[in-house]
Parts: sequence; C-alpha cells; structure tokens
Amino acid sequence: MRTISLLAPARVVITVLSLCLTPFAAAPAVAAPTEVDCTKCHARLVVRMNFVHAPLQRGCPYCHTGIAVARKVPHKKTNAITKGLSAEQPELCYGCHDRREFTKKVVHAAVAMGCTGCHTPHAGNNEKLLIAAVPDLCFNCHDKGEFTKTKKHSPAEAGRCLTCHDPHSSDYPGILVKSPYEICLDCHGPVKKSSHAGGVFGKAGHSLGGERPMKGAGKEPVKDPRRKGRIFSCASCHNPHSSGEIKLFRYPAKTPSQLCSSCHATKAVGSTGGVP
Ligand code: HEC
Ligand code: HEC
Ligand code: HEC
Ligand code: HEC
Ligand code: HEC
Ligand code: HEC
Ligand code: HEC
Ligand code: HEC
Ligand code: HEC
Repeated sequence: MRTISLLAPARVVITVLSLCLTPFAAAPAVAAPTEVDCTKCHARLVVRMNFVHAPLQRGCPYCHTGIAVARKVPHKKTNAITKGLSAEQPELCYGCHDRREFTKKVVHAAVAMGCTGCHTPHAGNNEKLLIAAVPDLCFNCHDKGEFTKTKKHSPAEAGRCLTCHDPHSSDYPGILVKSPYEICLDCHGPVKKSSHAGGVFGKAGHSLGGERPMKGAGKEPVKDPRRKGRIFSCASCHNPHSSGEIKLFRYPAKTPSQLCSSCHATKAVGSTGGVP
C-alpha cells in the first residue's frame, strides 16, 4: 500500500499542474489562505490513503469555505450549509464535474441521496474514491439475495455490474448503458440470428422485444405484459442477475414450454397469440 503525504512536494506540483489543465466549470470562490493546518487534527481523513481527491491539494477551505479558519473546536461556522461547505451536494460537486453525466433521462435514485453515499470527498483506498468496491458498494443498498439464487448469470456473479449499468444516469431504462435488447446481444449475438426459443415456438422464433414494434401500436415499444411500466425485452423472460429456474427464467418453469403460460393464456399460444 502506498502512503501519500498530502504535503509531499512532488505530488503537489503534479496535481496543481493537472488542476490547471482541468477546466473547472464554475470553481467555488477560493478561500483566504489559511495559517491553520487542518490535517493536523483531521489526519484520519487523508493519511495512509492510496487515492486523494485532487482539490484537497488546494486546501480544505477550498470546499469548506464556511469553516472559520481557527483552531477553536467546535469550529465557528460562517454559513448555514452542511459542514460549512461552499454549496450543498450535488451542486458542490457540479462546480467541477459535468452535471450532464448525472442528469440523463434515467437517474439512479442513489444520486439524489447524495454523491457521498458512494464516494468519499476526501481520500480513500478504493479506486474512484468509492467507499466500497463494486459490487459490495451496490449491496450496501440492494438486496444481495437477488443475485445469489441457485442459477447465477456469469457477469453478475463476477460483480461486473458496470458492464450493464451506469452508476449515475443513462438514457435507457434500468440505467443500462445500452438498450435492454442491445446490452444482451453484446455477448449473445447468435440469439438474434437463431429462431429464439424455436424448440417450443417454431421456426420464426419468439419476438425478442426491441426489434419490432407491437402490431397496431405504431413505433411504441412492445410492453411487458407482466410488469407494468416496463418494455418487453430479453429481461422479460430471463432474470439478468440470477434465478432459481433453468435458463435464468424469470417465472417458474421446469421446461421451456412451461414458461409460455406466464404471459399467455395456454390456449391462446400459437392460435390467436393473444397476450392476456
Ligand atoms: C485543533 C484541531 C482542529 C483543527 C486545527 C481543525 N479542526 Fe475541524 N474539527 C476538529 C474537531 C475536534 C471536530 C469535531 C469532531 C469531528 O467531527 O471530527 C472538528 C470538526 C470539523 C468539521 C465537521 C463540522 C460539523 O459540522 O460536523 C469540519 C467540516 C471541519 N472540522 C473542518 C476543518 C477545517 C476545514 C479545518 C482547517 C481550516 C479544521 N477543521 C481544523 C478539530 C480541528
Ligand atoms: C471537494 C470538496 C472538499 C474538500 C476539498 C474537503 N472536503 Fe471535507 N467534506 C466535504 C463534503 C462533501 C463533506 C460532507 C460529507 C458527507 O456529508 O458525507 C465533508 C465533510 C467533512 C468533515 C466531517 C466528517 C466527515 O468525514 O464527513 C470533516 C471533518 C472534513 N470534511 C474535513 C476536511 C478537511 C480536514 C479537508 C482538507 C484535508 C477537507 N475536508 C476538504 C467536501 C470536501
Ligand atoms: C474544486 C473542484 C472539485 C470539486 C468541488 C469536486 N471535485 Fe471531484 N475531482 C476534481 C478533480 C480536478 C478531479 C481529478 C479529475 C481527473 O483526474 O480527471 C476529481 C476527481 C474526482 C473523482 C474521481 C477520482 C479518481 O480517482 O478517478 C471522483 C469520484 C470525484 N472527483 C467525486 C467528487 C464528488 C463526489 C464531489 C462533491 C462532493 C467532488 N468530486 C467535488 C475536482 C473537484
Ligand atoms: C450509487 C453509487 C454512486 C453514486 C451515488 C455516485 N457515484 Fe460517482 N461513481 C460510482 C462508481 C461505481 C464509479 C466508477 C465508475 C467506473 O469505474 O466506470 C463512479 C465514478 C465517478 C467519477 C469518475 C468518473 C470517471 O470516468 O473516472 C466521478 C467524477 C464521479 N463518480 C462523481 C460523482 C458525483 C459528482 C456524484 C453525485 C452527483 C456521484 N459520483 C454519485 C458510483 C456512484
Ligand atoms: C446509497 C444507496 C444505493 C447504492 C449504494 C446503490 N443504489 Fe442502486 N438504487 C438505490 C435506490 C434507492 C434505487 C431506487 C429504488 C429501487 O429500485 O430499489 C436504486 C435503483 C437502482 C436501479 C434501478 C434503476 C431504474 O431506474 O430502474 C439499478 C439498476 C441500480 N440501482 C443499480 C445499482 C448499482 C449497479 C449499484 C452499485 C454500483 C447501486 N445501484 C448502488 C440506491 C442505491
Ligand atoms: C448482463 C447485464 C447485467 C448485469 C451484469 C447486471 N445487471 Fe442489473 N439489470 C440488468 C437489466 C437488463 C435490468 C432491467 C431488468 C428489467 O427489465 O426489469 C437490471 C435491473 C437491475 C436493478 C433493478 C431491479 C428491478 O427489478 O427494479 C438493480 C437494482 C440492478 N439491476 C442492480 C445490479 C447490480 C447491483 C449488479 C451487479 C451485482 C447488476 N445489476 C448486474 C442487467 C444487468
Ligand atoms: C458480458 C457478457 C454478457 C452479457 C452482457 C450478457 N450475458 Fe448472458 N451469459 C454470459 C455468459 C458468459 C454466460 C454463460 C455461458 C454458458 O454457460 O454457456 C451467459 C449465460 C446466459 C444464459 C443461459 C443460462 C443457462 O442456464 O443456460 C441466459 C439465459 C443469458 N445469459 C441471458 C442474458 C440476458 C437476458 C442478457 C441481457 C440482460 C445477457 N445474458 C447479457 C455473458 C453475458
Ligand atoms: C419470450 C421469452 C423469451 C425472450 C423474450 C427471450 N428469451 Fe432467451 N430463452 C427463452 C427460452 C424459452 C429459452 C430456452 C430455449 C430452449 O431451450 O429451447 C431461452 C434460452 C436462452 C439462452 C440459453 C441458450 C439457449 O438457446 O438455450 C440464452 C443465452 C438466451 N435465451 C438469451 C436471450 C437473449 C439475449 C434475449 C433477448 C435478445 C432473449 N433470450 C429473449 C425465452 C426467451
Ligand atoms: C414475459 C412474457 C412472455 C412469455 C414468457 C412468452 N411470451 Fe409470447 N409474447 C409475449 C409478447 C409481449 C408478445 C407480443 C410480441 C410482439 O408483438 O412483438 C408475444 C407474442 C407471441 C406470439 C405471437 C403472437 C402474434 O400475434 O404474433 C406467440 C405465438 C407467442 N408469443 C408464443 C409464446 C410461446 C410459445 C412462449 C413460450 C416459449 C411464449 N410466447 C412466452 C410475451 C411473452
């Protein structure tokens, strides 16, 4: 493990240079230089950490503009913002980080709860200043049981959540990095070419969602008949994380043909094809 002293001269020079090269959208007002070394008492936040957040090199008051520069404890706060910061989250962070990354069509609810639910603003031992590495980070809030059923999907089991999800926001449902159809074809390309579920369905293969619109519904995506508000996709039949069923089926089925009745009234399948 590398130990970085905040005051190591070489590092300060390098970081100050890189700070100059980084276009800050609207950097908070620079506080008056402080004669107080904040890290004297707050060493725990920075020592023995492999990754230090770049703006710390500008001094703690750079973000904590509202902490009176004094050794007095408790500190006198000169503003009403949490921890004497220059702005509340996420505005504080958007002062230097591009807000567009966090405000696409589908925003992860965790972002609204505060960036520090996942990142330390100071320094830490995980890459990207994460408070825990992925996937443990995700399991801080999401039920691990959803990922550990008897049949596990290999990329989810490997903890590669970010292969499919953006941690902040995206233009696709489920904060996926691509459409729920394309994301699966990245690794399962042949599914598109074969007649999928043809063994039970017949030569044409079942609609996979994403590729054709529902009859009579214009360009509207086909809707998932079982889950309100979701579009019909690979994940309508398969659980992308883990499942207790064969082939990662989302619904109980001991054979592929038993899956059909989860969405189709048995008689309708193959005759009217109606989706109840
Ligand atoms: C003499 C020791 C000492 C110095 C120097 C010092 N602090 Fe503190 N600070 C403390 C103690 C003790 C607390 C209260 C316990 C805690 O929350 O860790 C505290 C609390 C804080 C808090 C949390 C306040 C809150 O509302 O919860 C912030 C932010 C902070 N300090 C920032 C700074 C900054 C910025 C500097 C440098 C300008 C600084 N401190 C210098 C000892 C010090
Ligand atoms: C990039 C902006 C930024 C810089 C620079 C910064 N802080 Fe903070 N600090 C924060 C934020 C944001 C919080 C609130 C964290 C939270 O709410 O979880 C915080 C919280 C704190 C707290 C409260 C205890 C805690 O861990 O949450 C202390 C103490 C503190 N900072 C001290 C410092 C010291 C000392 C420095 C300089 C070494 C410093 N900060 C530099 C953003 C910053
Ligand atoms: C004063 C400007 C400034 C503020 C405010 C700021 N950052 Fe940063 N942050 C930076 C710079 C500069 C970098 C380094 C960018 C790079 O290496 O491309 C960085 C890097 C990061 C990284 C990536 C670290 C890595 O190891 O790659 C994360 C995560 C991050 N910041 C989170 C935050 C969060 C969360 C907040 C708000 C609490 C915040 N930042 C506020 C300037 C800032
Ligand atoms: C749910 C947890 C979570 C929340 C909340 C979160 N982040 Fe992140 N953030 C991550 C993860 C995970 C990564 C690493 C992404 C990667 O490695 O591709 C990351 C990466 C970053 C990076 C580095 C980007 C890069 O390309 O290197 C920055 C900067 C950042 N986050 C800032 C923020 C800011 C600002 C907020 C609040 C508006 C925030 N994050 C909220 C989980 C989160
Ligand atoms: C601080 C808590 C927190 C953390 C950490 C967190 N999430 Fe979330 N996440 C939420 C909340 C709250 C929701 C919305 C309620 C729900 O669906 O459970 C959510 C929803 C989601 C959704 C559904 C989004 C949608 O619009 O359908 C996905 C996907 C997701 N999170 C993935 C992740 C991944 C991947 C990680 C780890 C990188 C992660 N989460 C870490 C709190 C968190
Ligand atoms: C192979 C791609 C893939 C991987 C890897 C993956 N997910 Fe997902 N995840 C999805 C898809 C697709 C959905 C949307 C499913 C749907 O339509 O309901 C989803 C949905 C979610 C949801 C929302 C659940 C709901 O029903 O509302 C959460 C939370 C989530 N994922 C978290 C994670 C976490 C945490 C990891 C890593 C342990 C992870 N995912 C790994 C593809 C993936
Ligand atoms: C990063 C690559 C990757 C992505 C993306 C991916 N998968 Fe997989 N998937 C795999 C691997 C690897 C296996 C295991 C292959 C094997 O055992 O033959 C697998 C297996 C499967 C299986 C077969 C399970 C069984 O028991 O036979 C299904 C069903 C499946 N994936 C569905 C999906 C769906 C649906 C998506 C999109 C949400 C998706 N996959 C996205 C890599 C991926
Ligand atoms: C209508 C439900 C349904 C949809 C939608 C669906 N599948 Fe399947 N999938 C099945 C059935 C049924 C099987 C089992 C086929 C068999 O064994 O005959 C299967 C099997 C699989 C397998 C295991 C390999 C195999 O052929 O046995 C993979 C991988 C897979 N599907 C991926 C996908 C991907 C990727 C998508 C989206 C592009 C998708 N599925 C959409 C029902 C579906
Ligand atoms: C998760 C729900 C779901 C499951 C499970 C499912 N289907 Fe479907 N099925 C649909 C939807 C939605 C459509 C309409 C797709 C479209 O219009 O593109 C459809 C369309 C069809 C059609 C064509 C109807 C038409 O009008 O063209 C047939 C036939 C069919 N399914 C048979 C099956 C069979 C056989 C199985 C079992 C292997 C099965 N389905 C499993 C949801 C499902």
